[in-house]
Amino acid sequence: MFRSSSLCPLTFVAFSFAVLFQSQLITRSLNPCLEVTPGTTYKCMELNLSGIPPDIPTSTQSLDLSFNPLEILTSNYFSSVSALKFLDLTRCHIQKIEDNAFVGLWKLSVLILTANPLHFLGPRAFHDLVSLQRLIAVETKLSSLNKLPIGHLTSLQDLNLSNNYIDSLKLPKYFSHLIFLRFLSLQANKISSISVGDLDALSSYNLTLLLSKNDIKYIEVNAFLGLHIQEISLRGCFESSTVMQASLQNLTGLHVKSLVLGEYRNMKKLKTFSKSILDALCHMYLQEITLISIGDVIFNTGDLFPCLNNISSVRLVDTYTEDVSNFPENSSIRYLEFKNCKFKEVPSVRLSSLKELRSLRITRTKRLVEFEADFQGLQKLETLDLSENRLTADLCWICLRNGVPNLKYMNLSFNYRISLVTECHALPKLEKLDLQHTTLSGTGEYPVFLCLVNLIYLDISYTGTNIKSECSFCGLNSLLVLKMAGNTFENNKLVNILKNLTNLQILDISNCRLQSLSLDSLGSLRELRELNISHNKLLGLHSEAYAQLQALTILDFHSNQLAIFTEKDLENFPRSLKSLYLSRNPFDCSCENLNFLQWAKQKRNPLQHPESMFCHSPMHLRDVRLMDFDLSSCHVSTTTVATSVSISMVLVLSLILVYKYYFHLYYMAVLLSGRRRSTENDNVYDAFVIYSSKDQEWVKRELEETLEAGVPRFRLCFFYRDFIPGVPIITNIVQEGFQSSRKVIAVVSSHFLDSRWCNFELEVAQSWQLLDSNASMILIVLEGVDKAVVQRKLGVFRYLRRNTYLVWKDLELNRHMFLRHLRSALLDGKTWTEEELRLMLTG
Ligand SMILES: *[C@@H]1O[C@H](CO)[C@@H](O)[C@H](O)[C@H]1NC(C)=O
Ligand SMILES: *[C@@H]1O[C@H](CO)[C@@H](O)[C@H](O)[C@H]1NC(C)=O
Ligand SMILES: *[C@@H]1O[C@H](CO)[C@@H](O)[C@H](O)[C@H]1NC(C)=O
Ligand SMILES: *[C@@H]1O[C@H](CO)[C@@H](O)[C@H](O)[C@H]1NC(C)=O
Ligand SMILES: *[C@@H]1O[C@H](CO)[C@@H](O)[C@H](O)[C@H]1NC(C)=O
Ligand SMILES: *[C@@H]1O[C@H](CO)[C@@H](O)[C@H](O)[C@H]1NC(C)=O
Ligand SMILES: *[C@@H]1O[C@H](CO)[C@@H](O)[C@H](O)[C@H]1NC(C)=O
Ligand SMILES: *[C@@H]1O[C@H](CO)[C@@H](O)[C@H](O)[C@H]1NC(C)=O
Repeated sequence: MFRSSSLCPLTFVAFSFAVLFQSQLITRSLNPCLEVTPGTTYKCMELNLSGIPPDIPTSTQSLDLSFNPLEILTSNYFSSVSALKFLDLTRCHIQKIEDNAFVGLWKLSVLILTANPLHFLGPRAFHDLVSLQRLIAVETKLSSLNKLPIGHLTSLQDLNLSNNYIDSLKLPKYFSHLIFLRFLSLQANKISSISVGDLDALSSYNLTLLLSKNDIKYIEVNAFLGLHIQEISLRGCFESSTVMQASLQNLTGLHVKSLVLGEYRNMKKLKTFSKSILDALCHMYLQEITLISIGDVIFNTGDLFPCLNNISSVRLVDTYTEDVSNFPENSSIRYLEFKNCKFKEVPSVRLSSLKELRSLRITRTKRLVEFEADFQGLQKLETLDLSENRLTADLCWICLRNGVPNLKYMNLSFNYRISLVTECHALPKLEKLDLQHTTLSGTGEYPVFLCLVNLIYLDISYTGTNIKSECSFCGLNSLLVLKMAGNTFENNKLVNILKNLTNLQILDISNCRLQSLSLDSLGSLRELRELNISHNKLLGLHSEAYAQLQALTILDFHSNQLAIFTEKDLENFPRSLKSLYLSRNPFDCSCENLNFLQWAKQKRNPLQHPESMFCHSPMHLRDVRLMDFDLSSCHVSTTTVATSVSISMVLVLSLILVYKYYFHLYYMAVLLSGRRRSTENDNVYDAFVIYSSKDQEWVKRELEETLEAGVPRFRLCFFYRDFIPGVPIITNIVQEGFQSSRKVIAVVSSHFLDSRWCNFELEVAQSWQLLDSNASMILIVLEGVDKAVVQRKLGVFRYLRRNTYLVWKDLELNRHMFLRHLRSALLDGKTWTEEELRLMLTG
């Protein structure tokens, strides 16, 4: 009964908490949409919605309603979410957009209408979208540009109308208002002919026009005459080489910066590709050409010329090019790229005539395994990108320096194997070197980057490098960025190797199996802004290290063995720190780390993705989110700690008291238990004598011999004689002494008063008197005792009527008087046994 009534309020509280929590959950799940960013970003994909969910807040800026059966957008449809900037209505079965459907959305920047069968668009369907920059209406069954009422959308930059049924490139007049239009995709429509005047309405000079995947059969001569276009893409547009050639020929007079020609790998129509096709380009004003998937025949770069000799940029992609033929002298090509071609070696020498070449890229070439670096006279080459091939090479710094002395950027990443040597003839102008994901030999053992004095960017991530030499990065005095994730350090420890990189701003040593960083390893990196030490086995940095990195803005420490930041760490954190990544560390959520936990829950700390920080210990909190950690649980426990501390203090205190007054307590117990018996007991002794053992002689002479041998005969109780051995002294005192005696004789001397034991006995006697109203005491005060002390000690007991107060003096007369008084005091209340009476009579 008692127990259950005490449990009741507790259960009630717990229950109400549970109910509260539950109701919170319910309100959250009422809204079927995913809340990506509270208040601004919601995803409501595929929820069988037929309108905007009522609890989407008006502040929402980004709303994804794709794959819901909205069907008809009536006017004011979106008035409840007028702050929208991004709206995705992909595949919503929308057939009809009525006038003013988007009214109020004057901030909307992106509208996606992809895959809706738009049968009807009101003339004011897109009214009010004054900020619209991108309209994506891919696959909307649109059959004509005239049906799209977008003439007033003057902010429009991108219009993507791919995969529709538009059969004419005749731009409606309203295009003249779209002065910011940069991108018009009519890819995969039904445009088969282009005539003079079709593009007259075009007012933008910067347009990228995608016409790929239209089956173009006819282009009228001069259809593009005098037009200036940024880029035209005509991939997969022609059914044969003949049509292609004739069409290109009819593009006469077009000014296009960049032309993309070719096919798609999986839908090739052209059987042959002849040089004459490209001759057609001679009549165009062209700066850049990209040829993609041209023909199955081996394509010879010689075919490009002479028509393309004035072109500055040539890209060949997915093309069966095995080798380059010599380029003509005086070529103006500045940019040359081969991507996924069929080279086996880098055609260094063949490119020598490209005196204007600034940038050479040969990438993603599966067969490319050799690189001799025997370039000649490419004085202007600044960029060399040979990434994503299968190169195995000994990098010859001298050769590079001779052939391409002005190289600033070299990318050899994602190749097979590169050997580097120490050579002080390296490229003095090289600024960026990317070797990531290519097995390197030499790095980490020798100072292979020596003399790259202008290098500011070095990436040797995942290159199988094991840093052994302290001089691995010697000479890189200008380095700002060092990326070396996925390598190893000797003994898994970072020591002094970065010391001289005093300008370093970005350092990535993630995934390096690091177990420790020496304090001075980072100490000299005063300019460091970004430090990535994620995916290591670090327990933390030295507190001082944080103080040294005063320019740090980004610190990525995720996936390590960090348990907490100490108070000192937090204190020393650089003020500049903006982003701190700590997820996937085994955090210790014990209350002793309250400071850290409190800090982690603060809104204004620089923590990124705090939702993916979990407790690892203590056991019962494992996998609890740090954010969800209940700080008050620690406060509760501090109060329990406080109460338990005070309880134990009380306990200790009472133990001390018990220890101190042990005898008193014990004697009380004995006394009380004895009192019950004493009523039945006959008194054995006439008096129990308490005295100091130093007065033993006096007691023997004046009491024992005088009283026990004299007449009348008295029986006294002396502890040395009458106490029962083996029984606790207190029990003896109480049971043998007080309980068995009629009176107590206290022999008060200065020894007596000095002795703690005698004082105690006296106190016991006094309490005994209080308990037993018949008990009386005979106080014998010996010579030389301080009267004041005696009076204080004896207090009121001196004056109790049943007590006798005697002063002993060593004088004959006095002794006589003393003995008489003592005898009469002892006789008071004495009953004689028959034996005693007989003895007395005979005596
Ligand atoms: C979608 O909602 C409609 C009613 O709005 C209902 O008739 C239909 O069964 C629902 N479809 C699914 C797949 O839940
Ligand atoms: C236009 O739409 C097509 C087809 O969905 C897509 O491939 C292309 O990336 C889009 N272009 C832009 C700029 O959005
Ligand atoms: C063309 O585009 C470039 C950037 O793409 C821009 O700098 C330039 O101003 C644009 N020119 C016109 C005429 O819009
Ligand atoms: C190119 O223009 C000429 C002259 O107008 C025309 O005869 C020919 O058919 C056109 N070719 C193509 C492929 O459109
Ligand atoms: C290259 O140009 C120079 C002058 O710029 C001219 O003298 C020389 O003949 C040209 N060479 C060729 C092969 O066109
Ligand atoms: C080097 O090439 C790789 C692969 O193409 C690319 O990812 C990387 O960004 C390039 N490096 C630099 C510094 O541009
Ligand atoms: C660092 O630079 C000093 C002076 O420039 C040089 O003496 C020392 O050898 C260098 N140490 C390393 C490890 O690069
Ligand atoms: C740090 O490196 C890891 C992988 O090594 C990467 O996933 C992470 O994005 C990097 N952190 C930052 C802040 O760039």
